[in-house]
Amino acid sequence: MRMYDIIAKKRDGGTLTGEEIAFFVKGFTDGSIPDYQASALLMAIYLRGMDAEETARLTACMAHSGDTVDLSAIGGVKADKHSTGGVGDKTTLIVAPIAAACGVRMAKMSGRGLGHTGGTLDKLESIPGCSVSLTREAFFRQVNEIGLAVVGQTGNLAPADKKMYALRDVTATVSCVPLIASSIMSKKLASGADCILLDVKTGSGAFMKTLDDSIALARAMVDIGEHNGRRTAALITDMDTPLGHNIGNSLEVAEAVETLRGAGPADLTQVCLALAANLLWLAEKGGPDACRAMAEDALQSGAALEKLRRMVAAQGGDSAVIDDPSRLPAAAHARNVRCERDGWLRATDTEGIGVAAVLLGAGRETKESAVDLSAGIRLEKKAGDAVKQGDVFATLYANDAARLDAAEEKLRAALSFSDAPPAPRKLVFARVDKNGVTRL
Ligand code: URA
Repeated sequence: MRMYDIIAKKRDGGTLTGEEIAFFVKGFTDGSIPDYQASALLMAIYLRGMDAEETARLTACMAHSGDTVDLSAIGGVKADKHSTGGVGDKTTLIVAPIAAACGVRMAKMSGRGLGHTGGTLDKLESIPGCSVSLTREAFFRQVNEIGLAVVGQTGNLAPADKKMYALRDVTATVSCVPLIASSIMSKKLASGADCILLDVKTGSGAFMKTLDDSIALARAMVDIGEHNGRRTAALITDMDTPLGHNIGNSLEVAEAVETLRGAGPADLTQVCLALAANLLWLAEKGGPDACRAMAEDALQSGAALEKLRRMVAAQGGDSAVIDDPSRLPAAAHARNVRCERDGWLRATDTEGIGVAAVLLGAGRETKESAVDLSAGIRLEKKAGDAVKQGDVFATLYANDAARLDAAEEKLRAALSFSDAPPAPRKLVFARVDKNGVTRL
């Protein structure tokens, strides 16, 4: 088999066989296929696409290019949740404890934030003492005992994806549905869960800006999961405005705890309940209505909050933060940002708000940057709220006061106001499973 022929076949619109895809993934991972030939094939895929069968095969080969996690030492149904990334997205800290409180095993491997989107590991590390690196044995033991652990990836998971993503990044081949879907799902398949719930964000702060693109990505990922024997579903949720009020690591932990107490913002609570109910449905805990009722009960009874408390303690963290979030790290400087006019907050450029949080130190500009765990933004007003001149619409938090001016400028540029209330936006736009797409 020759790489040249595989490139030419895809360039001319052909469908690659399983053997051809396996040849490419193996050769690219072990270095026998050079980057220039891999780049040519990636561009041919970008321009010609891949059908569902090719995409599922590519993903399976990438998932098996390195270590895979065997979760069979954990009893019961193991579920995973993945968000395509957003601003103020602290849903894992809420959804995973709800699912665990309802008897689903959440053996979760999460990532760090990059660019304008945050990551669960950074949020957890803002809890004093909380570790996100456990030995495999400690990870399994914790999930068997508590039903819940959230850790960073260990070992050599999906190395083909790591190499391919780096090449796509410099060859203008990132924004391609089969390549994004196979990249995300290869890591999910390698992580070993039986069920996978995907939260595909849509809007100005999301990777996919339009609903149609978000649905296309969700369909591709659901197909891959189901083709590979995992029960998989996706919700398309709003990221045209940040989720909840708080953006930044310790600020988001505080808001997650408030939500698990039943006193969180309505948008965050509703999105988390929808995600949790779908996770329970995937884990075959009952029909959609029963799963929704179970999720609500886990939240209202405090059972989910208790799971988070136990998880934090088991991972070495100060679990007293659950009762007293003032124990979380706080920034040295706070600045109120006030409205300059009366009206309604009409729209937010959510990516711009995420960048303002990065300017305060809450996120990473490059993979190597350090994160300031207490920096961030609290939005007092959200899109759709009425405002008066002089109202505080946001508070900026930073440890380096020199960062405040640039962040305020970026935040102001990300907001627009109107004289009439804007039309309300949905929180959940669609649900995708193996039977198709349901617009909500
Ligand atoms: N996230 C991933 O992991 N891969 C992509 O290709 C895009 C987003």
